[in-house]
This record gives sequence, C-alpha cells and structure tokens, in this order.
Amino acid sequence: MVTKMTTGKITSETTTETEKKQLYIKTYGCQMNVYDSNRMSDILLPLGFEMTEDLEKADMAIYNTCHIREKASEKLYSDLGRVKPHKIRRVARGEDMLIAVAGCTAQAEGAEVMRRAPYVDMVFGPQSYQELPEMVARAMRTKEKRDNPLLRGAGVLNVAFPENPKFDTLPEMTNVEGASAFLSIQEGCDKFCHFCVVPYTRGAEYSRPVKDVLKDARRLIELGVKEVTLLGQNVNAYHGESPNSAGQEWSLGRLIQEIAEFDAFEIIRYITSHPRDVSQDLIEAHRDVKKLSPYLHLPVQSGSSRILKAMNRKHDRDFYFKLIDRFREARPDIAFSSDFIVGFPGEDDRDHKETLDLIRQVNYAQAYSFKYSQRPGTPAWASEQQVDETLKGERLAELQALLNEQQTAFNQKCVGQEMEVLFERKARHEGQLSGRSPYMQSVYVQANPRLINTVVPVRIIGCGNNSLTGEVVVLDN
Ligand code: 5AD
Ligand code: SF4
Repeated sequence: MVTKMTTGKITSETTTETEKKQLYIKTYGCQMNVYDSNRMSDILLPLGFEMTEDLEKADMAIYNTCHIREKASEKLYSDLGRVKPHKIRRVARGEDMLIAVAGCTAQAEGAEVMRRAPYVDMVFGPQSYQELPEMVARAMRTKEKRDNPLLRGAGVLNVAFPENPKFDTLPEMTNVEGASAFLSIQEGCDKFCHFCVVPYTRGAEYSRPVKDVLKDARRLIELGVKEVTLLGQNVNAYHGESPNSAGQEWSLGRLIQEIAEFDAFEIIRYITSHPRDVSQDLIEAHRDVKKLSPYLHLPVQSGSSRILKAMNRKHDRDFYFKLIDRFREARPDIAFSSDFIVGFPGEDDRDHKETLDLIRQVNYAQAYSFKYSQRPGTPAWASEQQVDETLKGERLAELQALLNEQQTAFNQKCVGQEMEVLFERKARHEGQLSGRSPYMQSVYVQANPRLINTVVPVRIIGCGNNSLTGEVVVLDN
C-alpha cells in the first residue's frame, strides 16, 4: 500500500517534497456527490495535493459524475472533450495529467467511459474511492509503461462494491468550508423505484453505526460547524447500530434527538426522505427538537396513485396527504419541498391534472421537477408507453409555472417574519452578506463580515422569486 505520492509523481519532472500537486474536482448532481468529493480531497490533500479551480494547472482532474438523467451523463462526455486539449498541452510541456472519472456514471458505464475517452486514466465508483491512494499509484505505474503519453496504458477501472463499507477506511474529515457541513449517515437504496438508477449505482441500503456518526459529529464541531445536514440517499430509512451493546437499532428520529444534544450545532437538517419511511418518532423530532429546521424535502414524484403504483413508490396520494398533515400538526411552521417527474411512461392528462391538484393542496415552498428520462437497466426504460417529448415539455412548463407561483407566494409570506440565518459569505453588493434561511432561501443582509459563519436573528423585509432581504435584529438587553 502506498501512503505517499512520492512513488507516483504526477509530473514527469522532478518535484520536491514541498511542491504541491494541483487537484481539480468537478462535482455533478446531488449532495451525496458533494460529500464524496470532499472526502476525496480529504484523502488526497495529505498525499501532497492542493485544490485548484484552474484546469490548466491541474496535475489531477476528477469528474465526480451523476447518472440520474440522460443529460447529467452527457455532461461528462462534453467535459471530457474539454479537458483533453489541456492534457495534450501539458504532455507537450513535458508535464502530465491524471484524469479520473468517479461517481454514478463511472459505476454504471465505466468500461464505456474508458472506451470513449482513452485519455482517461482512472474510473471508479461511489463505493470505491477510499482506495484512491492505491489507484493513483497504480495508474502512474501503468502510465510509465505506455508508448503514447496521451493514452493511459492499462488504466484503473474499479467499480466493485467492497465487502466493508468505505466509511471504515476513510480518513478523518478535514475539508469543511464555512460553518455548514454534510454528515453522511446512510448510503444506497433498496426501494427500486422503476425510473431510478440509484439502487444500481450506489448499491444496497447501508446505515452507519451510531457511534461512527457521533464521532464524525464531534469532528465537525472541532472544525467549527454549526449547521449539520444528515445525509442519505434514503435518509429516513436509517437504522444504525445502537451505541449500547444490547440496544436496538436507532431510527433517524432517535439520532436527531442525540445530535441535538451537541450545543455547538445550532441548526439540524436531513435529506433526502422517502414518504414510506417516515416514522412517528421522526414526526415527534419535528415537534420536540427546536434546532431541527422546519423544512422538509419529501419527494412525491407524482400526484396520481395510478402512476405512483407504476413507479413502484409503495404509497398512494392519500398516504402522502396524511403525512403532510401529521408534520404540519407537529410543527405548524413547517414548509415542504418535493421532486416531481412528468411524463413517466403511461402518464395521461388525468394523471398530470392529479399532480397539479396535489401541488395545489400541499402548497410547496420550493420544488424540483424533471421530464422523465429513460435510464438503461431500469424497469421503466423498456416500457412501451413512453410519453411524447413535446407533451412532457408542456406538462413540465405547466407544473413549473404553478410551483413558481407557490414559491413566490411563500417568499412573500416570509416578509415581516424573524428567522435564524446562517451567514455564509460576502454578497456581491458592498456591505452585504448572504446566508440561508431555515427554508433554504438565500437571504441578503447589510451586516458586519464578522457575522460570517454565525447564526443570527434576521427580520425579513423584502423578497424576490428566489431570495429574501432582511436586517439583523438588534436585541435589547
Ligand atoms: N428521470 C427523471 N427524473 C428522475 N429522477 C430520478 N430518476 C429520474 C429519471 N429517470 C428524479 C427524481 C428523484 C430526483 C433525485 O431525480 O425526482 O427524486
Ligand atoms: Fe431512486 Fe426511489 Fe431510491 Fe430515491 S427512493 S434513490 S428515487 S430508487
């Protein structure tokens, strides 16, 4: 096992121990990928790398990909086309460049990536990046043997699902920007919705033991984190091994109660949930834990029970309405967000109207919506009832118009309210900071930069479609 990059120098010239190699990472898709990219840099920085945003300077470029829709996968190939001339220029200068493709597209079509882009050196999936030190060393060894410096030699293709979860061997977290961080508690999915590639690319559902989660929580506190987002593909399916030897597994609701005990965490969030996995104690956590944001992303995908069944979502529309009611009863100021797919195979006008009706009844603060995209290997891919693309476009436009209206109305309703805002950075306007509201809206406030990375009470004084403006509430003593 190689622990130092000195055996596999990225540049062909001699580099000194102190000269850092430049690492460029581009992340596509969901928060799980953002988390994974941070962990990849946690692995590589101690091996002599430092981050760069300049591709031309990069000794190593990692593309951490998404496979959820066709467009997401296509982005990879256009970015690979763009990095190729950089590599050619570097090789011409007598330098070199390692190109790695990671993430879900790597997992789903790694061999295809290697075939289409022979200048890619390494391909690895979301469950094997913990082996990066060995993979980098191996890629360098095979490169030394090749005739054409633009080709990778044998290359590294690692898309196995390891026996032990990657978390067991990942290094301690070090790469945290600001006061907000993700804490991965769960991975993979066993739901097999008929449109979705995730169970195939990320693998089977796995919950991390409570003691490991708490250890990472303590580490985040050391790093100055005040807002923690518990992360999982299906986060409320969480059932982690109890820290007490004879104890039962812990649910997400129970874990949130424990995480809330850390005084340093002022805001707790979790994402992404499945309606079927909402348990009573999660609803109670929303009632009892003040730090838990009154905001829930609860994807429903469709408002038609017939389509929900065809999607294999394992619940119908009434079940979803009842859940919404229970959350609202427990936490009256809660607001909802969702994902929607229009044009799932077999969806007709009546189904679409039912989705619009569900949206009207729930009244969302925000939502994501997509045209159904046929994904190879998923059950819906082979359906003969595919919906015409133009019709999908029309339905999407209608749905998004309604969701936008709701989002604007929600933002307007926020005006006059007082909210806890975590300031993240200086905004573009002189003297202004930007932060996040409990409902994930961007909030712009004239405030002292010393307030960056702190949670501050803010009175909302104005709104646009996508953001709010506010002023710091001055507390009288
Ligand atoms: N086509 C369109 N959208 C999809 N999603 C997942 N698979 C597909 C697909 N094949 C959407 C779902 C999911 C979100 C992350 O992406 O709405 O909740
Ligand atoms: Fe995909 Fe469904 Fe699992 Fe979500 S619950 S990751 S949509 S299979």
